[in-house]
Amino acid sequence: MAKKLVELSGMTNVFFCSTGLEANEAALKLARKFGHDKGITRPEIVVYEKAFHGRSIATLSATGNPKIQMGFEPLIEGFVRVPINNIQSLKDATANNPNVVAVFMEAIQGEGGINPMHIGYLREVRQLCDENDWLMMIDEVQCGMGRTGKWFAHQWAGITPDVMPLAKGLGSGVPVGAVVAGPKAAHIFQPGNHGTTFGGNPLAMRAGVETIHIMEEEGLLDNAARVGQHLSDAFADALATELACGTVKEIRGLGLMIGIELAKPCAALTQQAAGDFTHHQGTKWAQVQGHRGRQGQIPARLC
Ligand SMILES: Cc1ncc(COP(=O)(O)O)c(C=O)c1O
Repeated sequence: MAKKLVELSGMTNVFFCSTGLEANEAALKLARKFGHDKGITRPEIVVYEKAFHGRSIATLSATGNPKIQMGFEPLIEGFVRVPINNIQSLKDATANNPNVVAVFMEAIQGEGGINPMHIGYLREVRQLCDENDWLMMIDEVQCGMGRTGKWFAHQWAGITPDVMPLAKGLGSGVPVGAVVAGPKAAHIFQPGNHGTTFGGNPLAMRAGVETIHIMEEEGLLDNAARVGQHLSDAFADALATELACGTVKEIRGLGLMIGIELAKPCAALTQQAAGDFTHHQGTKWAQVQGHRGRQGQIPARLC
């Protein structure tokens, strides 16, 4: 399983765990230890508005949604928050701050409302991380594993991160998470720095290997790109009037990770769609979820 993930990502090392938040916790620990190893005693990590990284104390602190954080304060410190796709904001927020050690982002924000990082932005962040000796950490828990038509969504930008947390689709329903590291991050953890009881267990590894095997054998990446394009085109067609008059603000995403942003709250609509989905279970329907009131997220099945 590790060999396969290394091959698909172009990275070098893998740590296995069981969930997305655990993978992200490991990434945050890697970033802090990376800083400490350089003599930075209060490391800071750049995170994003509208981000979602999980529900543990550290990952909800990194998350950019007050609703997820409310009631669990005090949040942990050491985060610098910036808006997505704005390189100047990132530069301004980190200028003259020697404590910055990493930039942590989703290549496409999922829970935040399907907000893709632009290809140019991903490349600029990669360059900034290289110039400043920061880790580029990309949470691919939701947008990875073929959902966008490439194994990992950042691969559309032709870049490679230093740290990449994975989970969700990795085990086809069997709990399996992984943190994939490149050369810059691979040797940060020393024996005793991190661990897990169930990570890397035989069932999880088998599920992961089989998942990747089936995805390769059945061409599910191409399928995600093709069906995703078909869906996006069909939505644009069907919602042309609403797009023109502004009741639908935008259809966005990549492959089978598509969001439709409405101009007004859509809780009732998504509830109705979820009802329809339940009614049609067993068929290959897209799943619809409401997000932040105005977006519908459509993470359709890969096959
Ligand atoms: C981008 C992202 N990161 C992390 C997580 C947390 O994963 P888990 O629920 O497996 O802890 C999620 C879950 O939705 C997610 O979408």
